[in-house]
Amino acid sequence: MRRAMAEAEVGDDVYGEDPTMNQIQRQAAQLFGMQDALFMCTGTMANLTAVMSHCRRRGAEVLLGDESHMYIYEQGNMAQVAGVFPRPVRTLKDGRLDLEDLESKIQHWYPDVHFAQTQLICLENSHNRMGGRVLPISYMKEVRDIADRYGLKIHLDGARLINAAVSLGVEPAEIVKYCDSVSLCLSKGLGAPVGSLLGGTAEFVADARRIRKMLGGGMRQAGVMAAPGLVALKHARENLTLDHQNAKTFAKGKSADAG
Ligand SMILES: Cc1ncc(COP(=O)(O)O)c(C=O)c1O
Repeated sequence: MRRAMAEAEVGDDVYGEDPTMNQIQRQAAQLFGMQDALFMCTGTMANLTAVMSHCRRRGAEVLLGDESHMYIYEQGNMAQVAGVFPRPVRTLKDGRLDLEDLESKIQHWYPDVHFAQTQLICLENSHNRMGGRVLPISYMKEVRDIADRYGLKIHLDGARLINAAVSLGVEPAEIVKYCDSVSLCLSKGLGAPVGSLLGGTAEFVADARRIRKMLGGGMRQAGVMAAPGLVALKHARENLTLDHQNAKTFAKGKSADAG
């Protein structure tokens, strides 16, 4: 990764002229099966940018898990920065949201003046606080059906999307296809020093690029950060498959000890 950084071809990414950045963004879009993708400094910035891009009106409401990273560990940034109202939904032990609770909380009575207007559902796969549990594809589809019934968007906090894909034995795009946007972290299990990728439609990503600049995330010779990310993506599947095997061996050993 360090060699790739030293050798990276760079340009001015604020103007979209950094070839290494452009390469990782194209590759990420392909990985997600989405039209476009954007390199972000962190997962937190990617998630906030997604919320801001989906919820352009002040007072919009986001439904998200009460155990989700976006609700607990991101300083309520969507309220602090975006003027968006986060409404928590009960998280089950396996990382899924309770779908009855989710649907009952959707506020769709616009223009009734009493209510915030639900615009976005956020999911997390795999789920950090639920011990890395992976959401089943059938569940992703169920949430998509609910979102479509009420005209809502879905953002997936896929910080560990590739872990989920490896665990389910599917391509990441198979998971992402039920969502309108997705974030993926390069600097966790994938081992790159920095960065996240945010995917969505071309229109969503164009908007996200503006928001990223406004949040202070416009970067110039940024190819030095994209280059290790490309190495991370290249080896992601094999490295995480090995990680999962090691984790299973460790878990077996632990439970044998306990027994
Ligand atoms: C599920 C999930 N989403 C988002 C983030 C935030 O990523 P970052 O620390 O890069 O802001 C994390 C970090 O641990 C995470 O686990």
